[in-house]
Amino acid sequence: MSKILVSGGTGYIGSHTVVELQNAGFEVAIIDSLANSQIDVIDHIEQITGKRPEFYQFDLKERHDTRAVLKELDNIDAVIHFAAYKSVGESVANPFKYYRNNLQSLMNMIDGMNRNHVRHMVLSSSCTVYGQPDVLPVTEQSPVKPADSPYGSTKQISEQIIQDAIRSGLDMNAIALRYFNPIGAHESAKIGELPVGEPNNLVPYITQSVAGVRGQLKVFGNDYNTPDGTPIRDYIHVVDLAKAHVVAIKRLLEGKNKANYEVFNLGTGTGNSVLEVIKTFESATGQNVNYAVTDRRAGDIEKVWADTTLANTELGWKAEKSLADALRSAWNWEKNYRNI
Ligand code: NAD
Ligand code: WQD
Repeated sequence: MSKILVSGGTGYIGSHTVVELQNAGFEVAIIDSLANSQIDVIDHIEQITGKRPEFYQFDLKERHDTRAVLKELDNIDAVIHFAAYKSVGESVANPFKYYRNNLQSLMNMIDGMNRNHVRHMVLSSSCTVYGQPDVLPVTEQSPVKPADSPYGSTKQISEQIIQDAIRSGLDMNAIALRYFNPIGAHESAKIGELPVGEPNNLVPYITQSVAGVRGQLKVFGNDYNTPDGTPIRDYIHVVDLAKAHVVAIKRLLEGKNKANYEVFNLGTGTGNSVLEVIKTFESATGQNVNYAVTDRRAGDIEKVWADTTLANTELGWKAEKSLADALRSAWNWEKNYRNI
């Protein structure tokens, strides 16, 4: 049985991926500082899968701790590196926090892997590396545009760090997965997205607003060059996303990768506008969303959705769940969390 080390494994996407890894028969060890997640996620993973992942709480910025734990865990076959800060706005206000955390943690992880002969890594990247693409849908060949935020920069530099490490001679195989907009929650409603404070992202804002935790949803602009005037994104169910990580890990462990460094877009291939998301949420849940159109949010792009051909053909992975499935699961999670 292969053992996978998952950094950021108590976080939103990490926890769903740990569930899918365990369901697929992998052993899992998690590293997380709990900077943006809760320890009881481990209990919930155990309730869902019947297996309790090993857990190490420390900050990957600490190189000695990282080395020590990777040494202790001497039977790791591959790493999935989720650990990073992810708030775009906070990164603009506090860029060093983002550069320090997201880049130092990655370099420490690669250093620890190298010392302990762990050769395979899957990295969380983001569609943010494309900015506003000139051609849609966006393929992996589309140019990486100058980043709009320090957060976006850290994703571009993270991809570069891995490529440079390989070019320097490190014996390493890596797959960078560029996620589009992950939403939704596990069908058990035991794990889900838990933003700290006021949500920045659309779907947690909708569910918290409907739950009465937040006020009216602001729709940031309806004067974009899109059919209904609101921006378009590729919203992907987090469980579909989690399953793609299992496929990527198997590809590396089975030596099916075609290069030491590969990149895949992970989206559904379909774009939906903000108003479509609201309408779909309402019809999927029977709940009314109280919203008003306001000014555009600074830094928002107009439209982006993925060309998923490469992931479909090379990984043999395809998103299966619908937008309605994802929104229903997000609402079920919110209701369960708030005891509604
Ligand atoms: P999350 O904040 O829920 O999970 C990240 C986890 O990493 C948290 O549990 C946090 O405590 C941990 N962490 C952060 N810094 C750490 C450190 N120095 N040491 C140890 N643990 C640390 O975020 P998420 O939404 O699950 O995102 C996971 C990854 O996917 C991130 O790299 C993020 O940038 C990327 N990503 C997320 C999205 C999205 O919309 N959620 C989209 C594209 C890419
Ligand atoms: C989606 C749409 C908003 C909130 C961000 C990061 C990106 C990636 C995914 C990590 C936009 C609109 C939102 C609200 C609204 N993360 N909106 N009212 O901006 O596409 O991407 O998360 O890599 O890097 O930038 O996602 O969910 O914030 O916004 O109208 O209260 O919803 O304008 O059109 P975004 P989002």
